[in-house]
Amino acid sequence: AAVSAPVAESVQSVSVAQPVSKDVTILYGSQTGNAQNLAGQTGKTLEAKGFNVKVASMSEFKPNTLKKLENLLIVVSTHGEGEPPDNALSFHEFLHGKRAPKLENLRFSVLSLGDSSYEFFCQTGKEFDQRLEELGGTRLYPRVDCDLDFEELAAEWTEGVLNGLSEGSGAQMEAAVAVEDASAQPSTYSRTNPFKAEVLENLNLNGRGSNKETRHLELSLEGSGLTFEPGDSLGVYPENDPELVDSLISELGFNPDEVVKVNKQGDVRSLREALISNFEITTLTKPLLEQVAKLTGNEELHALISDSAKVKEYVYGRDLLDLIKDFGPLGVSVGDFVALLRKLPARLYSIASSLEANPDEVHLTIGAVRYDSHGRERKGVCSILCAERLQPGDTLPVYIQHNQNFKLPSNPETPIIMVGPGTGVAPFRSFMQEREEVGAEGKSWMFFGDQHFVTDFLYQTEWQQWLKDGVLTKMDVAFSRDTAEKVYVQHRMKEHSKDLFEWLEEGAVVYICGDEKHMAHDVHNTLIDIIEQEGNVSREQAEQYLADMQQQKRYQRDVY
Ligand code: 2AM
Repeated sequence: AAVSAPVAESVQSVSVAQPVSKDVTILYGSQTGNAQNLAGQTGKTLEAKGFNVKVASMSEFKPNTLKKLENLLIVVSTHGEGEPPDNALSFHEFLHGKRAPKLENLRFSVLSLGDSSYEFFCQTGKEFDQRLEELGGTRLYPRVDCDLDFEELAAEWTEGVLNGLSEGSGAQMEAAVAVEDASAQPSTYSRTNPFKAEVLENLNLNGRGSNKETRHLELSLEGSGLTFEPGDSLGVYPENDPELVDSLISELGFNPDEVVKVNKQGDVRSLREALISNFEITTLTKPLLEQVAKLTGNEELHALISDSAKVKEYVYGRDLLDLIKDFGPLGVSVGDFVALLRKLPARLYSIASSLEANPDEVHLTIGAVRYDSHGRERKGVCSILCAERLQPGDTLPVYIQHNQNFKLPSNPETPIIMVGPGTGVAPFRSFMQEREEVGAEGKSWMFFGDQHFVTDFLYQTEWQQWLKDGVLTKMDVAFSRDTAEKVYVQHRMKEHSKDLFEWLEEGAVVYICGDEKHMAHDVHNTLIDIIEQEGNVSREQAEQYLADMQQQKRYQRDVY
């Protein structure tokens, strides 16, 4: 639901001059860092306009100070099946609980981030927005829900918020200028201006006969000025599979050389190039289905979109080519067709190297995604580009996504426990490289798992060397398909309950990286089991122990 900034309206309302507070609190809930970056940018824009701004993570905010606030801005993303990010959990719970205060004096606005290919699009933002109203708050600007390409809508929201805040203070005329200032060219490469990184190495980490293919990529950052810390991610702009693009164009009956507009600035290129580099063709969203239903008048599709369970079932494992085959032809011009599509979003990968240890380089660990669905082999866009087409010497457009939610402890003596099966190993290779490089003395314990020891022990020799050198204190591995009964990382953790709890009591930080839905969920429950058992406390107390660890940033997750 795009909302356009009501600049003209707020100019008209100058006459209702009221004393307005210049204090603004911006709270963010962010998993990958986008919401956090936007909160920071909005803060800078408002400060430049003379507001006193406080930007904080929801997890750091003291809820009992909520009542005193006059202006609150919320920037929050949504995950999986409509869940809040980790650092929004406690505030979200507080606000929706009985202890939440009345907020009649509060003016607020919500910017929510999400992905329209998920059923519960921007759910967390919607919940904050609704709840703040229920508690008596007044919207100073309507909520804006952003899809993956959030930049333009986020800038509109900031502009609208500025107008809303400035109402009565006579400052609104400058608002539009401020937003432009904030979007002036960044000094280095960024999400909107990615660096073309040369591929130095591209290897398969799995042995012959493995069910898996995991690529180890080394990219050059030379000349980019880009820096990162262990725990940060790399954004990679991929290209679609040219074969899939050609099939799609022929199904549509278009001329691949016809020129199309690829952005609002009016840049143009051929349809084929645009579908390779600019637009998403492998994910279906409900808004896209709705537009296609409108265009084609297809009754079956109309019936489908009115039932969200059916939409969910249809889009699963299908792509744009399926949609056109099932419900085409669209009967639209090439230009109108392209206007239906989302921009091809960047993929985020946890960085697998330390800049201290490998200056001017960034390493990634990427699992190749291939599966059969509805009679066709499907390929992960970015992972298969890396696995099948990307050669040393080629370049990839990349940017750094700083992640404040996944950081080595500032004290090099703090013990760390790392849980990273499969490609979840990536940030821990970076952690170890860094701790080795800086000579950190803290204990470290790695839990790794994958299917088979012989073919799937990612970076095996490096782990063995770190163990030998004492950079790594302990390592436990779980190879799930080498034994009759499956063993997973959490089983290894459980076997070492006593030791593990001792480490927690000594102040260890626990990190989980990898699959969210199954692994991270099960590991979370196992941690609670261990605390309950070894700490001799109730289930509720054990849950609170882990929640407190999360609050103190001693429990950090990078899950996908
Ligand atoms: P599986 O494929 O044999 O089920 C990395 O992908 C490793 O994580 C694999 O060994 C995989 O086992 C395992 N894995 C799958 N589901 C898991 C879960 N719920 N918890 C922990 N590990 C899991």
